[in-house]
Amino acid sequence: MNRRGFLAAGAASIGAALGVPLTGCASATRQTMPASDRLVHLSAVRRLAVELAEPVGGRCRYVADLGDRQVAQPIIVARRGDIFDAVIENALPQPTTVHFHGLTIPEAADGAGFDSIAPGDRKHVRFELLNRSGLYWFHPHPHGFTAEQAYSGLVGLLVVADDDDDALDVALRLAPTNRLALAIADARVAGGTLAPYAPTAEDCLHGWFGNRALVNGALDAQRSVAPGWVRLQLLNACNARGLLLAFRDGDSLAPFHLLGTDGGLLPTPRELDRVFFHTAERVDVAINVAGRRALVAVSLTFDPRHHDLGKAAAHHHPERERYAPLAPVAVCESGSGRSDSDSIPDGAEMQLFTLRIDGASTGAPPPLPVQLSTLADALAPPDAPVRRMRLDFDERVGFVIDQTPYRIDEIAFSVNRGTREVWEIKNSPISMPHPMHLHGFSFRVLRRQGTFGPARRLATESGGRLSTDLGVKDTVVIWPNETVWLATDFALPQDAAFHGRQRYMFHCHNLEHEDGMMMRNFAVV
Ligand code: C2O
Ligand code: CU
Ligand code: CU
Repeated sequence: MNRRGFLAAGAASIGAALGVPLTGCASATRQTMPASDRLVHLSAVRRLAVELAEPVGGRCRYVADLGDRQVAQPIIVARRGDIFDAVIENALPQPTTVHFHGLTIPEAADGAGFDSIAPGDRKHVRFELLNRSGLYWFHPHPHGFTAEQAYSGLVGLLVVADDDDDALDVALRLAPTNRLALAIADARVAGGTLAPYAPTAEDCLHGWFGNRALVNGALDAQRSVAPGWVRLQLLNACNARGLLLAFRDGDSLAPFHLLGTDGGLLPTPRELDRVFFHTAERVDVAINVAGRRALVAVSLTFDPRHHDLGKAAAHHHPERERYAPLAPVAVCESGSGRSDSDSIPDGAEMQLFTLRIDGASTGAPPPLPVQLSTLADALAPPDAPVRRMRLDFDERVGFVIDQTPYRIDEIAFSVNRGTREVWEIKNSPISMPHPMHLHGFSFRVLRRQGTFGPARRLATESGGRLSTDLGVKDTVVIWPNETVWLATDFALPQDAAFHGRQRYMFHCHNLEHEDGMMMRNFAVV
């Protein structure tokens, strides 16, 4: 289908993904924008500016220039095969990048940390969208500034459709209001305003936690939906917080169905009453709201398994010393202590958003389709080489991969294009959960071992896996003491126009850990 055909046909379903109130990143109000105001087609973007929206509070925003109009904090929609061809402009006082998280993409378009755009500079980026349908996203990745910039509002959603995605919405008879794409973050709110990013050294070790949920940039988010099926594509956009999502209806939890993960639809849906997803992970869920009046999406209490690690030296970032913070505050400095009253700890219950069910029921909704996609089971070839990595804590630097803090000019290892490897990633027993993320390629989870805590209780599938381990992934949480085996595949679609050596990153997506050196570069050759 061409772009115009897609925009017309997609108006009922994907268009609803824009029915999302996406307020300006500087405001803490409940302003709801009309659906068409935030929706931007990937191929229509001519220029994507990264700006400081509110210098005093350090809040930032993306502005998509479409030639005839500009859209702040856009939600980008696309279909497999679409082309992004735009200039990225850095109007921040710090280096930035635009990283397209989850996309199969050449190094030149990946926006990785070793490829930043200096303040005032621009960069031309072009790529073809090769991924399955699903919720992808874009965010900054400049080495040392990622956490601050993402927290300050630079998180964008990219909703990709394909034929399986269309068929699902038709089968669910989804009302236009009932498909939502939501980025869930947590912010520190003090005196009614969003506090700027000001972690202490302690926060830089465990992560920067907020006290209120921000959904697509807004506090106290509510959505009005029609009776029947609701499809929610949700991103955990927190810097460091895990989310154990459930839907409260009074005292009970409403059952829902997991439809998909980071890289698109599962083969078949799974019925659940809670689902865990850590930072950068996505879940696609369907919930039947017929006969209900309101549902409150919450993160339930869980044991976050943060061990007391004593003190790590505050990491000194040569880059950070050259540029001021976005707001006039100190970042990662010890001495200020941990201001616990300003944050809700990881694993504590937190209210996320509310769904109000309005309008008359039109009878029982259709059954969920039994088959959502033709995704095969996760398998690794019997002779696949095994690459082992260890996640550890080092008192001098903090959390590290294979005892090696990140170096921007180092290539930790190379893999041959087209090969399939098993990655065995082991987290140390005295640690905390690390959501590990691979750039440029997706992977499948083969098995987990040594799992304790909340993940253990959610392990309902073969090989100690969780239901979220059944889909295509680009980020996987690894709990303390746990070993996870991943099936990677460094093949590219036949026509992909990026051969030759390509560099990518593998890192922890707790953004304080990422800035704190828990990251490696690797090359595909
Ligand atoms: Cu979402 Cu390397 O990042
Ligand atoms: Cu990424
Ligand atoms: Cu980590």
